[in-house]
Amino acid sequence: MKRTLLTLLTALFILPALADEGMWLPSLISSRIDDMRAKGFRLTAEDIYSVNQASMKDAVVLFNGGCTGELISPEGLLLTNHHCGYGAIQRHSTVEHDYLTDGFWAMSRAEELPNEKLWVRFLVRMEEVTDRIAAGETADEIVKKAEAEGPGYKAAVEQMYYGNQQFLFVYEQFDDVRLVAAPPSSIGKFGGDTDNWIWPRHTGDFSMFRVYASKDNKPAAYSPQNVPYRPKKHFAISTKGVKEGDFTMIYGFPGNTQEYILSDAVAYIAERSDPAKIAIRTGRLDIISKAQESDPALRIFYAARHASIANAWKKWQGEVLGIKRRGTVASKRAYEEAFDAWAQDKLRYRNVVAQLKAEYARIADPYFAREITLETLGALPIKYSAKERAEAVFAHRKATERALYSLQFGEYARRCPAQFQIPEFLDGVARYGSPEAFAEEIFTQVWNGSDTTATTALRSGTKRMLDHITWLTGTKSLRNLNSKRLNELYTTYIKGLREWDAERAFYPDANLTLRVAYGTVAGYEYADGEYHKPQTTLDGIIAKDNPEIYDYDIPQTLRDRYASKEYGRWAATIGGHKTVPVCFLATNHTTGGNSGSPVLNASGELIGINFDRTWRSTMSDVAFDPSICRNIAVDIRYVLFVVDRIGGAGYLLKEMKLK
Ligand code: ARG
Ligand code: ASP
Repeated sequence: MKRTLLTLLTALFILPALADEGMWLPSLISSRIDDMRAKGFRLTAEDIYSVNQASMKDAVVLFNGGCTGELISPEGLLLTNHHCGYGAIQRHSTVEHDYLTDGFWAMSRAEELPNEKLWVRFLVRMEEVTDRIAAGETADEIVKKAEAEGPGYKAAVEQMYYGNQQFLFVYEQFDDVRLVAAPPSSIGKFGGDTDNWIWPRHTGDFSMFRVYASKDNKPAAYSPQNVPYRPKKHFAISTKGVKEGDFTMIYGFPGNTQEYILSDAVAYIAERSDPAKIAIRTGRLDIISKAQESDPALRIFYAARHASIANAWKKWQGEVLGIKRRGTVASKRAYEEAFDAWAQDKLRYRNVVAQLKAEYARIADPYFAREITLETLGALPIKYSAKERAEAVFAHRKATERALYSLQFGEYARRCPAQFQIPEFLDGVARYGSPEAFAEEIFTQVWNGSDTTATTALRSGTKRMLDHITWLTGTKSLRNLNSKRLNELYTTYIKGLREWDAERAFYPDANLTLRVAYGTVAGYEYADGEYHKPQTTLDGIIAKDNPEIYDYDIPQTLRDRYASKEYGRWAATIGGHKTVPVCFLATNHTTGGNSGSPVLNASGELIGINFDRTWRSTMSDVAFDPSICRNIAVDIRYVLFVVDRIGGAGYLLKEMKLK
């Protein structure tokens, strides 16, 4: 019964764990190594992760808690994305030295720029501690012991498989990380928000840093006496290029996926939560874009804010499209129904699906209220600092900020389920006549920094309501492991699934711990009869180049190189003519946090830097569909071309191992 049903389901819905789905724990990669080698990988599990010898993990870092980076020289040189280094580049930028616009190239070690509060972490080791915790040791005790092992050591105990297993991760953290190189935004952010999440793509999304250490190669706070860190391992770089079908592997720190959540939660995302959040952000972006178009000072001022609001806004739209188009809710439902049928004569599992469903029904409204609150009232500035007030652009912002207040108060009033609306908000609306009139009152207080009585009351009301909702739902996310009830049910559910669907290769959801994903360079069928090739080139950049449009106005030097075809060793013949490769697509399972991750070939050599996914494939955070899910990488040859031929920093190539 079970087999036939499963076979049928597999044929109908393409169940997970086929193809290149998965983000695997490096210490357990030996369970995947046969499959990897069958797909072309030429190295061993020990090459990927080892505690006895230098291995690839020693060349990968968690970059400042949200991105990945990789070491590419014996002298601590590190690559990540431009959008990961953006904050650091911005903080060094002034009107006289606008590194965001013009790029930055340190021409010697002395010119490398230190950064406060920028750190990287190497994984020293990871080990399962499920038994230690079962025997009564607490996670805190385990962490404390590990952190005492060495200078700069950080540790964390993380749950895998929804609480079925616990792993200890021990890291070495370096806090002296200096900016070495960044291309101009017209390369590093080419295409801006228009091209974001889109293929074909032409963004040179990279920046370079250098890790510094004490003289004995240990973590140390910034000091002019520090010296370049000598990593145990760094990646060699392949300049031989990639082609469709080639093996690729990504080693990095994916942040958050929820691959095993119930169909009810997927339906909530695609039908309720994403559409509401998208609509609210559309309103916010309209207001901000209008301001940007009307005033050059505001265009710059709102650039980072616009980019961050637009990033998730666009991702959610793609996610909804992907989930709908692929019928993910129905296929997940069929899958859990089949499990539930199997579970009926098993005491431990027979009620778990029903209980999970009941739990989602119970928390749906308050959880939605929390999301709406955070997207509206919670996303407004509650004060303007003295520094901000002194800025030349401050007065220009007034109409925009006021419009945002008005919009977000209105959206909150309309969308937040009535029983979870904040009493102080309802009072204000009653007193001033409408959400917009109340918004005007609060905005005036906040803007002037004058009498803040009503603002203070609203703020404490907001906090109280959010605390209440968290208590009521017991969770801050749909798969949250801090939610006692949801978590206990999921622990049982996942255990049951693994027993029932024994042939499926389960991998733990992403939780910002180090993972390996592997696949191949591949295009995909974008629409009926419309195949998207997996590679883009400089010719595509030139085709998009437009001095009139900010996001497509490339540097003159790039136009000049194209005109003279001076590509040096970075040239390749693609589509029958000489050009420079720019970006490529592959089937690796990635998510936010994988930005900056090394993309490696079958020999473990660097061929690109991961930075994005295609639009509709962002559904891979809840279900990986091999027919459409693709990650986007910048080709390492484009990175080197820009360093060498645009930045004139070719001296940096000398410390790399180019193959
Ligand atoms: N979509 C990519 C990721 O989620 C890149 C975002 C940065 N780029 C931008 N144009 N906003 O983070
Ligand atoms: N752009 C994402 C990041 O910054 C990667 C992704 O979501 O695919 O990590």
